[in-house]
Amino acid sequence: MGSSPFLIIAIDGGAASGKSSTSRALAERFNLLHVDTGSFYRHITAELLRRGVSHTDSATLQATLAQLNFSTQLDGRSARMLIDGQPAGDEIRGEQVTSHVSHYAAIPDVRRALLGYQRGQVDVAREHRFAGLVMEGRDIGSVIFPDATLRFFLHADPAERAKRRAAEGRADSIATRDQLDSSRKTAPLVCPPGAIDIDSTHLTLEQVVEKMSALIAEKLR
Ligand code: DC
Repeated sequence: MGSSPFLIIAIDGGAASGKSSTSRALAERFNLLHVDTGSFYRHITAELLRRGVSHTDSATLQATLAQLNFSTQLDGRSARMLIDGQPAGDEIRGEQVTSHVSHYAAIPDVRRALLGYQRGQVDVAREHRFAGLVMEGRDIGSVIFPDATLRFFLHADPAERAKRRAAEGRADSIATRDQLDSSRKTAPLVCPPGAIDIDSTHLTLEQVVEKMSALIAEKLR
C-alpha cells in the first residue's frame, strides 16, 4: 500500500472570484497549508509604499527588493509572509494598497523576488506535516506550479463579484485590477491550458468546494 501523494492544488482567478473562501475550505477538509499569494503581493506593496518607493523607479525598486528578507509564520492553516520579521497589517486590505498592488505586481523584479519564496511553501507544508498545500493567486497554475496535482481556474460574472465584495464591506477596483492583471506582460492572469475552469457565478461556495473536493479525492485514491 503506497502512501498518499503530497498534494499541490493551484487556484487562480480574478479579484473576488471566490478563491480565498474556497481555498480555506479545501485546506480544512484535506489538511493542506493555505497560501494566499495575493496577500504576499499586498504586503510587498504596503512595504514599498511605506518606504516611498514608486513602481516607476526601477533602480530604487530593485535595490529595495534585494534588501527585503521573507520568512513564513503559520496562522492556523495559513502561511503568513513576514518581511524582515514583520507580519502585514490590516492596511493590506485597504484602499491604498488595493489600488496600487496591480501596478507593483506587473513588475518582473517584484514577481522574481517572490518566485522562490512561493515555491518554498512546499517545504513549510512538509515541515509542519500538512498533506500538501493549496495556493491561490493569478499565476499559480501557469508559472509557480505548472505541474501541480490539480490546477483550477475560478471565474464569475463581474456583477456577482462586485456584490460579493460589497457584502464584505470592502471597496475594490475589481474591473481595473483584472484589466491590469490580465494585460501585463509577465505572468498575466490566464486560465492555463489543461486547468479546470469553473464558473462560480451561479454556484454556492459549498458547490464549488464539492466539485473540487471530488477531483482531489480521486487523486488520493
Ligand atoms: O488575490 P488578491 O486580490 O488579494 O491579489 C492582489 C493583487 O496581487 C492582484 O490584483 C494581482 C496580484 N497578484 C498577482 O499578480 N499574482 C498572484 N499570484 C497573486 C496576486
